[in-house]
Amino acid sequence: MKKWIAILTAAVLALSLFAGCTSSDSKGMTIEKGKLIMSTNAEFPPYEMTDDNGSYVGIDIEIAKAIADKLGLELVIDDMGFVAALEAAQQGSSDMVMAGVTVSPDRQAVMDFSDSYATGVQVVIVPEDSDITSPDDLEGKKIGTQLGTTGYIYASDTPGNGGYGEANVIGYNNGITAIQALQNGQVDCVIIDNAPAQEFVKTNKGLKILETEWLTEDYAIGFAKGNTELKDAVNKALAELIADGTVQKIIDKYITAE
Ligand code: ARG
Repeated sequence: MKKWIAILTAAVLALSLFAGCTSSDSKGMTIEKGKLIMSTNAEFPPYEMTDDNGSYVGIDIEIAKAIADKLGLELVIDDMGFVAALEAAQQGSSDMVMAGVTVSPDRQAVMDFSDSYATGVQVVIVPEDSDITSPDDLEGKKIGTQLGTTGYIYASDTPGNGGYGEANVIGYNNGITAIQALQNGQVDCVIIDNAPAQEFVKTNKGLKILETEWLTEDYAIGFAKGNTELKDAVNKALAELIADGTVQKIIDKYITAE
């Protein structure tokens, strides 16, 4: 009889533990229990890139790690093309996309966003001797961009909507390929986010960034629509990391003020 009570007690305990796991602790809101799977496109320095050892580093990687630590989850980085990284989060094959992703109304229609953690600025890169001196000179020029980015989307819009027409915009798989096309004279300029632009101009001679910025945007983390539980938990962690200065410290580590 005593033995039965012991078994019963153990069974009840096991059941309640199991129920505890599947209820609303932070592990229950991710695809894989205990993990925070982040899709990204690690070709966007200094937000996400690989170091000489092939490890993922950058602002987004470190902020994501700090968020995962706060939620008691293990960060898993899933590196892919930029469009694929957005779609992975949308379709729920990753828990979130963090890739210097700009919040835009079109994207808000298909995914949910965290609060913003950084400002992005789109700039224009030209050869040092270019006749393009401001964004006003871009009409009729060949413009290189990274496929699927806001640089690509906005630049290929119609002139009436602030774009330059699809025919004038070429989308490359990543920023560095667009830079190479610029150096080879296949495009007249590249529109890309300022932070990677600074990196690319530093490491590729003969290029400069136009002083006049093209536009300013907000970066945020993307989630599948309706994954409110995870989004709320990430927002809470993010707010703490912003308040205690961690986010700024990470940004300052990678971006030195000019
Ligand atoms: N901010 C731009 C956008 O959201 C470009 C982001 C590109 N990010 C990347 N990891 N390749 O469209």
